Amino acid sequence: MTSSSKPWEHAKASGSEEDPLAARFVASLDYDKRLYKHDIRGSKAHAAMLEKVGLITPEDLSAINAGLDEIEQEINEQGEAWPGWKVELEDVHMCVEAALIEKAGDAGRKLHTGRSRNDQVALDLKLWTDEAIAVVLKKIDEVITSFIDLADQYGDIVMPSYTHLQRAQPIVVGGEVFAWVNALARSAQRFYMTHEHRLSNPLGSGAIAGSSLPIDRAMTTEWLDDLTFPTANAIDATASRDIALDFAYALTMTSMWLSRWAEQWIIYATTEFGFITLADTYTTGSSMMPQKQNPDMLELVRGKTGQVYGSLIALLTMCKGLTVGYNRDLQEDKRHLFAAYDAVCDCLDMAAGIVRTTTFNEARIKAGLDKGYLDATSLAEYLVTKGVPFRTAHQIVGRVVGLCEERGVGMLKKLAVADFNAVCNEYNAGDAVGEDVYDWLGPENVVKRYQSAGNAGVSGFEAQLKAWKERLESD
Ligand code: ARG
Repeated sequence: MTSSSKPWEHAKASGSEEDPLAARFVASLDYDKRLYKHDIRGSKAHAAMLEKVGLITPEDLSAINAGLDEIEQEINEQGEAWPGWKVELEDVHMCVEAALIEKAGDAGRKLHTGRSRNDQVALDLKLWTDEAIAVVLKKIDEVITSFIDLADQYGDIVMPSYTHLQRAQPIVVGGEVFAWVNALARSAQRFYMTHEHRLSNPLGSGAIAGSSLPIDRAMTTEWLDDLTFPTANAIDATASRDIALDFAYALTMTSMWLSRWAEQWIIYATTEFGFITLADTYTTGSSMMPQKQNPDMLELVRGKTGQVYGSLIALLTMCKGLTVGYNRDLQEDKRHLFAAYDAVCDCLDMAAGIVRTTTFNEARIKAGLDKGYLDATSLAEYLVTKGVPFRTAHQIVGRVVGLCEERGVGMLKKLAVADFNAVCNEYNAGDAVGEDVYDWLGPENVVKRYQSAGNAGVSGFEAQLKAWKERLESD
């Protein structure tokens, strides 16, 4: 290329003319072209302001707007094939501006008055993030709705819960489903970020120090209707990537929760557990073992979390130790942010699909329910209602479980009242146990007895289901 083909011909920054690797190395076009709509939107707001303050004429403004409209339409139609994408122009901002100059001549050459690519890219990133957040929130909503439908269908099934992946206490399926719902709802909250972040407009901060021309940043902000006030400091506005980092963190937390859910369901789908059956659509076969149904989609939801974490760490590391003001390192932000966003969007879509099509195997879950003394805590709480201190009750039940093991009966409810009381007497708790103990034993009884707010049994599940349905209806 000739040096005159760059719209900022005399810019010193373009040391790339002799070395094609340098041209490719400095370019971000590959990944930042997806900002073209945001870039054009920002340019239109900027041009409208330039005209109002008298820095360009009404004719310039019409030519700029017409040119930008044409460019947007061309890119909409041609996408990657748009001839204006020229890697030697480095990025989306320069490609759009160069195309505008071709169409609008000197009017196009006035557009960059009072701005720099530094405030331009900060604005574009903010506008993009705002849209991306709306997309993610909608997708999280989809997953939540799918979980609620699942709870509607299978929520009453009694199942074991696990701590340390060892059988803990009986719960209902709905109790666990709402654990995921709560985690995802909390993940969604993180995307709202701080007011200052979401709503401030960096455009007009220039390269670092602002401009000596009479640009009106409040006016530009008014044109960008989802932003409400100009950023307060030009250096900070061009140097910070906090919006990208906050977004990336919210994405990693979403991904982390999806990975925990994926792992849980991978385990539930094993032959050993058999709690759930995944739809064929979301499993794959093995090239060697004809019987296999592998939960690859869940594994990839789990696995892609690594990439998402990587993006956050890359962004943090990239920003670490940078002097305040723009440094070219910051250009790489979009590569990582877009990658994390794309991965999380895919994972959320996949999660919604999997949740919608998975079945819970009630008979299989029920068949194993009497193993593992799930009702042991319930027995201890029964003893508390009879006046036994909890620590003593805990010891008694530990001994009672030992007795079941010695006798090979495997279940607390197989013992007689006299057996329970023999142990109670050993611990000076008298004949604490009566016939009513059997109402506290067996997983089916236990899940009906939980009464604490937020419990994972019948009453807790029903309350959460009701609250969530009301919340969804009011949204
Ligand atoms: N593509 C660049 C980025 O994303 C634009 C800013 C370049 N600014 C500069 N002063 N060289 O960061």
